[in-house]
Amino acid sequence: MGRCCFYAAGTLSLLLLVASVTLLVARVFQKAMDRAVEQRVVLRNGTEVFHSWENPPLPVYTQFYFFNVTNPEEILRGERPLLEEVGPYTYREIRNKANIQFGDNGTTISAVSNKAYVFERNQSVGDPEVDLIRTLNIPALMAMEWTQNPLLQDIIKAVLKTYNQKLFATHTVHELLWGYKDQLLSLVHVFRPNISSSFGLFYEKNGTNDGDYVFLTGEDSYLNFTKIVEWNGKTSLDWWATDKCNMINGTDGDSFHPLVTEDEVLYVFPSDFCRSVYITFSDYERVEGLPAFRYKVPAEILANTSENAGFCLPKGNCLGSGVLNVSICKNGAPIIMSFPHFYQADERFISAIQGLHPNKEDHETFVDINPLTGIILRAAKRFQINIYVQKLDDFIETGDIRTMVFPVMYLNESVLIDKETARRLKSVINTTLIITNIPYIIMALGVLFGLIFTWLACRGQQSMDEGTADERAPLIRT
Ligand SMILES: *[C@@H]1O[C@H](CO)[C@@H](O)[C@H](O)[C@H]1NC(C)=O
Ligand SMILES: *[C@@H]1O[C@H](CO)[C@@H](O)[C@H](O)[C@H]1NC(C)=O
Ligand SMILES: *[C@@H]1O[C@H](CO)[C@@H](O)[C@H](O)[C@H]1NC(C)=O
Ligand SMILES: *[C@@H]1O[C@H](CO)[C@@H](O)[C@H](O)[C@H]1NC(C)=O
Ligand SMILES: *[C@@H]1O[C@H](CO)[C@@H](O)[C@H](O)[C@H]1NC(C)=O
Ligand SMILES: *[C@@H]1O[C@H](CO)[C@@H](O)[C@H](O)[C@H]1NC(C)=O
Ligand SMILES: *[C@@H]1O[C@H](CO)[C@@H](O)[C@H](O)[C@H]1NC(C)=O
Ligand SMILES: *[C@@H]1O[C@H](CO)[C@@H](O)[C@H](O)[C@H]1NC(C)=O
Ligand SMILES: *[C@@H]1O[C@H](CO)[C@@H](O)[C@H](O)[C@H]1NC(C)=O
Ligand SMILES: *[C@@H]1O[C@H](CO)[C@@H](O)[C@H](O)[C@H]1NC(C)=O
Ligand SMILES: *[C@@H]1O[C@H](CO)[C@@H](O)[C@H](O)[C@H]1NC(C)=O
Repeated sequence: MGRCCFYAAGTLSLLLLVASVTLLVARVFQKAMDRAVEQRVVLRNGTEVFHSWENPPLPVYTQFYFFNVTNPEEILRGERPLLEEVGPYTYREIRNKANIQFGDNGTTISAVSNKAYVFERNQSVGDPEVDLIRTLNIPALMAMEWTQNPLLQDIIKAVLKTYNQKLFATHTVHELLWGYKDQLLSLVHVFRPNISSSFGLFYEKNGTNDGDYVFLTGEDSYLNFTKIVEWNGKTSLDWWATDKCNMINGTDGDSFHPLVTEDEVLYVFPSDFCRSVYITFSDYERVEGLPAFRYKVPAEILANTSENAGFCLPKGNCLGSGVLNVSICKNGAPIIMSFPHFYQADERFISAIQGLHPNKEDHETFVDINPLTGIILRAAKRFQINIYVQKLDDFIETGDIRTMVFPVMYLNESVLIDKETARRLKSVINTTLIITNIPYIIMALGVLFGLIFTWLACRGQQSMDEGTADERAPLIRT
């Protein structure tokens, strides 16, 4: 009976140890779990993944910060602008996908992403309908930019004079964002009907979408989950100088494929930025107790490198690191994109303006992704809208202004997972954690039986020793 237990414990221990090591080496449970996640994270009608893609559950906030011009006269005399940051003006985004249609046997899906903005007074510094911001008169600068035609130029000059329009104008935050009717643009509108008579940095962006998308559902490969294949009926852009620069890469940035790894580069196409960008791994983070990989937009995205030469228009006309001329996709308006406060840009852009303080904490763009599910736990997308200004001899309104990239506004579009969603996600993650740890449980059992075996072996040895002593004893006695 004892001998039987002894061998049974030994054999069991050995088997369990071998089994657990085999399972670990072959990563059987890990692979099974990965496969389960890959199969779950697909856009299929009726699934939870589909619903949260269609109606994103997490609240997204956009915070706008304006640069109020304090010394307009001095700027027109050729001095450096002194800008005062005013903000945030916070809006909650209401997002949903519409016109959804599956195609190609469920491997593609077409949709539009609607966005509406609702003002949040208690997270803002003031009332956007009341607060005034003095900044560049952007419609006037746009009109000046369009005037290759001498007849149009004379008309614009006359209109500027008639309405006493200056290079700087004061408008409410609401007008600057959501639009106001401009006399100059109303006139241009007569000649060029597709130029609107209103101007606003987010004009016609409330309750609308940024174009028709076709995404991959992830049915063919989990790596293709919500990857863009077409935007507005095209598979690539046509305004940049090279095919590589014109590529529409990756997702729209609102979702990522599951099982992300530290060494991969994730591509995103933010349509307001007019080009694809990529993000790279930088840190391990924890968000509401959940593991996350932090990905950041690296400085190379806007660096003055040969890879980015195709973004310099007209060809060869690179403005320097940290800025992107997007005039070509904004109806010819002299708009330059950058990170807030010219973060990661050439020093000369920062020193041309008084009142800028670029820093990593406030001005970088990052996203914290849960590596198992690809779900975004926290993110902040930050960029700045600037206007390229220079002295124009034809327009006295420009005075003796220096040539510079003039900051107007920057924004921070951020999201943070709420406690309830985090709690539900945590239970899913814990379940997979338990399952992938089964080999260790088996191994622990193997070790336990090994200990029992050793204990039995020692006890057997002891009783044998005692037995020998008993046999010897009579000898001594004799
Ligand atoms: C999803 O299924 C529902 C019910 O079967 C149907 O009404 C709806 O049109 C489907 N949606 C899409 C995008 O196919
Ligand atoms: C859809 O699947 C069917 C059957 O598997 C196949 O015959 C057909 O060619 C597929 N269509 C597309 C567009 O992939
Ligand atoms: C945007 O539209 C929504 C609904 O149509 C409205 O409630 C909201 O006030 C609008 N936001 C702005 C900034 O006009
Ligand atoms: C802010 O306002 C919203 C409603 O608009 C309210 O639900 C929320 O509790 C307020 N937050 C604070 C901190 O007052
Ligand atoms: C911006 O500057 C103008 C002109 O100095 C001033 O009237 C206005 O109150 C300032 N706006 C804010 C929000 O401080
Ligand atoms: C303006 O409209 C015309 C035709 O209506 C079109 O050919 C042209 O591309 C449009 N221009 C812009 C900048 O959208
Ligand atoms: C989908 O993913 C597979 C495997 O990663 C890849 O070979 C294929 O090109 C992808 N399809 C598209 C349209 O990107
Ligand atoms: C798009 O991705 C390809 C590699 O897949 C890369 O070579 C190209 O530079 C990317 N384009 C942009 C604009 O990010
Ligand atoms: C951009 O880089 C090129 C090559 O390194 C250099 O010649 C040029 O001066 C740079 N341009 C700016 C604006 O820094
Ligand atoms: C920006 O790009 C537009 C056209 O793409 C070009 O006409 C303009 O000169 C560029 N601006 C600067 C400052 O290089
Ligand atoms: C967004 O970024 C700004 C600075 O760019 C910062 O002050 C603000 O706290 C951020 N908002 C959130 C919700 O993280």
